Amino acid sequence: MIQDGLQDRLTGIKSEAVEKIKSARNEAEVYQIKSLYLGKKSEINGLLSGISGLSIEEKRSIGGAANTLKNEIEAMIGSRISELAGAAGAAGFDPGLPGFLPRMGRLHPLTLVRNEIKSVFAGMGFTVAEGPEVETDYYNFEALNTPKHHPARDMQDTFYVAEDIVLRTHTSPVQIRVMEKQKPPIRVIMPGRVYRHEEISARSYCLFHQVEGLYVDEGVTFGNLKGTLDAFVKALFGPEVRTRFRPSFFPFTEPSAEMDVQCFLCGGQGCPVCKRTGWLEIMGCGMVDPNVFRAVNIDDEKYTGYAFGMGIDRIALLKYGIDEIRLFFENDVRFLEQLNCGRP
Ligand code: PHE
Repeated sequence: MIQDGLQDRLTGIKSEAVEKIKSARNEAEVYQIKSLYLGKKSEINGLLSGISGLSIEEKRSIGGAANTLKNEIEAMIGSRISELAGAAGAAGFDPGLPGFLPRMGRLHPLTLVRNEIKSVFAGMGFTVAEGPEVETDYYNFEALNTPKHHPARDMQDTFYVAEDIVLRTHTSPVQIRVMEKQKPPIRVIMPGRVYRHEEISARSYCLFHQVEGLYVDEGVTFGNLKGTLDAFVKALFGPEVRTRFRPSFFPFTEPSAEMDVQCFLCGGQGCPVCKRTGWLEIMGCGMVDPNVFRAVNIDDEKYTGYAFGMGIDRIALLKYGIDEIRLFFENDVRFLEQLNCGRP
């Protein structure tokens, strides 16, 4: 019977395949054998295409046997390949050995701190805005109540790109850009990179990062400013950390203050990081000066507001206990890995 003939042939194919697979000397040979027996033009497929004249039962039985054989050949090929791979490694494959961890990118410490600051303020209803790093003199100074030749311009040594174009010295110009477009109530934070033509040292660099904040509405008070910044510091550094405000001066805020946090490294006892004062200065702040409101056509009789600006790099130095700001800009993986930012 045709069926018996086919069965015999399948058995024959099987023993040939077993022989060939066993004697294959490398992976390439195994793959050749695979395509010979399991490829489209294999003998098994040829046999199957010739069974159209058989009864349904016969077709089923031959089809089943052919599939079983294909699966057997597939399995033999798989185990021959692992056998050859094992022999190739001198000591063989040891599944108990630890694997190789792929090198993975991580977020830079400054990005981590910025994200943390953003999420604390997001929780208090602040949205995020950004502005250009190359700024006009108008936005960086003039609109912020700092006319040309104002002595306060000396507070921030400026990189000039052209006569009236600067690399922004702070993120405060973004306040102006936001207030030009949006009417109160405004509650926004503005992170970004800023530049100052300062002498480079362990604590200051020619570029660094700030997060600016602005809240404008009817009846905003200095008390709101203190409460918000105090809550921010406690969220970032821990509920037991204390803050204090010292009078200061900025042309665009009146009154102005510096906010200090109690040194969390020594708990306020005094250590080298806080220069034995027990306090760390982390931001400037104050009530928006009426002249700034006038520059953006916001009614300074109706609205009041507060603004603040903090250095992200300074906060990151404190948070990670690092004494050299330049490390943040060199991107040496050995440094980043120590902060657990370079690798898992
Ligand atoms: N722009 C100021 C600085 O860079 C910080 C500041 C922002 C102060 C907002 C008051 C209000 O030093």
